[in-house]
Amino acid sequence: MNLLICTNNSHKVQEISGFFKGYEIKSFKDLAGFKAPEETSLFFQGNALLKATAGYKASGELSLADDSGLEVYALGLKPGVFSSRYAGENATDMANNEKLLKRLKGEKDRRARFVSVLALVGSKKVLVVTGIVEGVILEEPRGDNGFGYDPLFYIPELDKTMAELTLEEKNRISHRGRALVKLAEKLKSY
Ligand code: IMP
Repeated sequence: MNLLICTNNSHKVQEISGFFKGYEIKSFKDLAGFKAPEETSLFFQGNALLKATAGYKASGELSLADDSGLEVYALGLKPGVFSSRYAGENATDMANNEKLLKRLKGEKDRRARFVSVLALVGSKKVLVVTGIVEGVILEEPRGDNGFGYDPLFYIPELDKTMAELTLEEKNRISHRGRALVKLAEKLKSY
């Protein structure tokens, strides 16, 4: 069985692939001449469906998209769907993290959550699930694993940032991991 993971982000492909043992995995990078759709929705669900639908139309294969981001309570749940573009179009993770730290300078309420919405589009039906993990934004980065805001996202119960977890540990507790568990359950009757 083939599965197209609708992203150019190799970290997401790595995290998601582990949940689909036995599938032949491809990503947007494997579709010659394909241009990923613009993420025009203000909602994770909208963008996940945009990406999964575009992938399915281009490949004809079962297509899974993740739209995810960081919601910071003191910032009115920003950057949200703009997480990858927080410091500008094509911003690096470092630039996004620096902007976040600047915005939170002197802020006492550092609570935040990661949200992942997964959309699966295939020949039969469309599935959409959401996963969330709550945490706290540190004042400086810790850890070298993962990507994006992981080094700033501290999980009190584990006394670690997301970037201090192995891939397996991250998948057990992360927003994406939690959404993938829900998706696997729904897939049983797909
Ligand atoms: P998307 O590819 O448009 O869904 O953007 C997702 C963005 O949200 C990433 O580029 C990161 O900035 C952030 N993000 C989502 N999931 C994670 C994660 O697991 N760790 C760290 N940052 C994440």
